[in-house]
Amino acid sequence: MTSVTVRVPAKVNLQLSVGPVRDDGYHDLVNVFHAVSLFDEVTATGLPEAAAGEDDPMTAGGVTVRVSVEGESADQVPLDATNLAVRAAHALGARAGRPLAVALHIRKAIPVAGGMAGGSADAAAALVACDALWGLGLGTDELTEIAAGLGSDVPFALLGGTAVGTGRGEKLTPLPDTGRYHWVFALADGGLSTAKVYAECDLLREATGDHPAWPEVSARLLAALEAGDPKELGESLINDLQPAAVMLFRPLARTLAAGRDHGALGALVSGSGPTCAFLTGSPDHAQELALALGVADVSRATLAAHGPVPGATVVATTP
Ligand code: C5P
Repeated sequence: MTSVTVRVPAKVNLQLSVGPVRDDGYHDLVNVFHAVSLFDEVTATGLPEAAAGEDDPMTAGGVTVRVSVEGESADQVPLDATNLAVRAAHALGARAGRPLAVALHIRKAIPVAGGMAGGSADAAAALVACDALWGLGLGTDELTEIAAGLGSDVPFALLGGTAVGTGRGEKLTPLPDTGRYHWVFALADGGLSTAKVYAECDLLREATGDHPAWPEVSARLLAALEAGDPKELGESLINDLQPAAVMLFRPLARTLAAGRDHGALGALVSGSGPTCAFLTGSPDHAQELALALGVADVSRATLAAHGPVPGATVVATTP
């Protein structure tokens, strides 16, 4: 094969319950992930191995990676070896034990630093694309292990659907697929650093003397998912990072209120934000809400999407 293209979804968190800080600086979570139909695409194209050179900053462990990005906020995506998709190709290629070179082209639709795991999605897509391109044939377990080393949300981008994440979010238990949910996402101007939002959450808790309990998955949320009931689901959405995200990005309070005022079944900040997510009852309801939010002028743009959808999937190959 000379090239492989993988499509990978964004996520929204139906429940993000944040426990105490651990010794390694991470927080123990209960994180109910839900993959939605907002997709990035990553194409991996083989390059002549002669491109590899250890003095090249894009080479690590004998693997050389070139990267290019187009689409939604592409100018905010790093093009150096810190790019999570590049790190994914380096980590995967190290398992091959031979010099390799690849060009990654990323087509972005998922907002950058938006709380929808766009960078994690690109890393998962790069793992699946390079595994196929290089004929490594790594199984799900091995890919998931590499994914967890890259970031807490990367394993879920491989899996997709709806799943409970525990630990720092990387230990996944898939949930059965019982409903189809229609969402509207309100994109913000600019991004939020995940690490800063967690740090702000800790500060707010310190200031209020609020000691977080050990996080537990919400029985109400699970029952709503089992019943496939969007109204119940809308009322069960939980995000412990929301107060911190709103504190760091004040206009979000207005965006969330506008969604509720215009009939959203549920409204919350997506992950660490600043994207806001609104649950609706139907595709038509989603279109109406997206339009109303546009008129209210409370976001940079609105996007309608549905979930759950599958994780990183090969969509095209060139022999
Ligand atoms: O794992 P990932 O690199 O995506 O995490 C980004 C940052 O988010 C971490 O450096 C940490 O500050 C914070 N984080 C956390 N607890 C988690 C997941 C992420 O504190 N469970």
